[in-house]
Amino acid sequence: MDTPKTHFQAVWDPLIRVGHWTLVIGFFTAYLSGDDYFSIHKWAGYVVAAYVLIRIVWGFVGTKHARFAGFVRGPGAVFGYLRGLTTGKAKDYAGHNPAGGAMVVALLFSLLVTTSSGMALYAVEDNAGPLAGIVTEQTFAPIAGAFGEEEDGGHEESGAEELLEGVHKAFVYITLALVGLHLAGVVASSLVHKENLARAMVTGRKRRPD
Ligand code: HEM
Ligand code: HEM
Repeated sequence: MDTPKTHFQAVWDPLIRVGHWTLVIGFFTAYLSGDDYFSIHKWAGYVVAAYVLIRIVWGFVGTKHARFAGFVRGPGAVFGYLRGLTTGKAKDYAGHNPAGGAMVVALLFSLLVTTSSGMALYAVEDNAGPLAGIVTEQTFAPIAGAFGEEEDGGHEESGAEELLEGVHKAFVYITLALVGLHLAGVVASSLVHKENLARAMVTGRKRRPD
């Protein structure tokens, strides 16, 4: 039996590849340092935030497979692709498949909320960081009352701190859950398309039919 002819095509540009692995290291460093090592935490978080902003701009002006217009699809395409995975008949895409594309948007959004709530918390708690003076107790005055004040190891927590800490922690766990699904998706698509997609995120090259 003839095996179908294939060739390799450059898909992921260097910004996407270097950015992806920087994001992975930055995210886990921030996650592991959140409780005890604030100076590391802060800088790892800034690296993540900076990359997310660059990636969003790149989604409009970047290379072909980096642009949102090329891979953000409606729910029909996303569920069609996921159904295809279960039957082994999912269509093979050069760039992100429709489910992967939805996951990119969800991850970037969740990381944006995680990092900006962290910066807002830092501004309110210590009047420091990029949002110092821009986000203050007063910003949350109309809604923070609902979160009350709490005693935390001798330190009075204001309603604004309570609220921002809650949002920061919630989005850390939402991001972790998305990362779990992201990895499951990478493994499933790699098996169905018989290609190591994690390696493609290193080399930038994917196998395509001739
Ligand atoms: C060791 C763990 C990881 C592996 C093996 C991995 C692998 C991959 C692969 C293969 C892709 C391309 C998907 C495709 O072919 O459509 C991708 C994309 C992506 N991954 Fe991961 N990933 C990992 C961890 C993470 C983490 C922790 C995050 C975020 C916190 C993340 C965020 C992203 C984003 C935003 C993209 C979109 C790439 C782009 O278009 O810029 N990944 N990942
Ligand atoms: C993806 C990036 C980030 C992740 C995964 C992350 C994760 C975490 C975690 C796990 C905690 C500990 C929560 C707990 O007490 O259980 C934390 C706390 C905190 N994070 Fe982040 N964070 C990120 C980005 C940032 C950024 C950019 C800032 C801004 C400087 C920031 C500021 C804070 C602050 C002020 C705390 C509370 C520390 C304390 O008072 O003990 N985070 N974060």
